[in-house]
Amino acid sequence: MADQAERLRAIVQGQRDMGSSRPKGASRTIVVASGKGGVGKTNLVINMALTMGQLGRKTMILDADLGMANVDILLDLKPVYTLIDVMSGKKELQEVILRGPYNLEVLPGGSCIPEIINMDTRQREQLISRLSYLENEVDILFIDCSAGISRNVLSFIAAADDLVLITTPEPTAITDVYSVIKIVDKYCMHASVGLIVNMVGSMREGEQIFDRIARVCHNFLNLKLTHVGSVDFDQHVQKAVINCSPYVLQYPRSRAAQATQQIARHLLGVDTAKLSGRKENGFVRRLFQRWVGETAER
Ligand SMILES: Nc1ncnc2c1ncn2[C@@H]1O[C@H](COP(=O)(O)OP(=O)(O)OP(=O)(O)O)[C@@H](O)[C@H]1O
Ligand SMILES: [Mg+2]
Repeated sequence: MADQAERLRAIVQGQRDMGSSRPKGASRTIVVASGKGGVGKTNLVINMALTMGQLGRKTMILDADLGMANVDILLDLKPVYTLIDVMSGKKELQEVILRGPYNLEVLPGGSCIPEIINMDTRQREQLISRLSYLENEVDILFIDCSAGISRNVLSFIAAADDLVLITTPEPTAITDVYSVIKIVDKYCMHASVGLIVNMVGSMREGEQIFDRIARVCHNFLNLKLTHVGSVDFDQHVQKAVINCSPYVLQYPRSRAAQATQQIARHLLGVDTAKLSGRKENGFVRRLFQRWVGETAER
């Protein structure tokens, strides 16, 4: 009996260590992407990030959606400056960052990406060092991408430590997410990829969809697909969107909130980057290496 209690304590301690052993200066970047648009990426990112904030993690969201950046809208935050103001030396990076509940920080970035790619080397180095400093200050950096597999999205996917893909039960969403998985596999971007099935009718439906996609991956690809979790179709999400108030805060007992909280805890416990081998350099430097490489190729 005493032995069993001892083992349980060791397991619990081990799990705690996994979540908290990250040394300062080694933040984890989690990129959230999808094939089809409108599957719930932005809502999931915000609500997972807030849950991690509630659990004491310093969390930041980089809004990397080029076309329709709307993390700030859903959090009812009003961006005043952009990264362009930082690049031109008018503002400090700290002045661009928006602050939400539970210490959540938001860096609106999407619309600036074309300009960043075209910067000269000196400007770029300055921005890299400022962003790298920031990256090292947080525990978890979420990146909310545009839907689909544009060059930009692929750069974020390749540079991040972890990739979490979102699908819904819709056949088009499933087909499109599999297209993303195939590209990630083809270019060996990640050995292990997480999947969330959003807007499910039941947890069983989520599992069945995951199993279907995982089976195809197992048969035809090299990468390992992990079921990070499923989130119910829940009207509380839509109500929260209308109120510009995240559902984990406004409706913490709703099914969607409880599922999202579970997923956030799961993500903190399972560091998939450890499975696929942590990458060298920081995320920001890796990202810029890809961008600069691409511009040089053009
Ligand atoms: N679990 C859910 N239950 C019910 N509705 C949901 C759920 N998740 C998301 N939605 C609805 O889907 C809409 C789109 O969500 P969201 O903007 O987060 O998707 P997205 O993948 O970020 O879209 P885009 O590809 O355009 O960036 C939300 O406005 C919300 O109404
Ligand atoms: Mg979005």
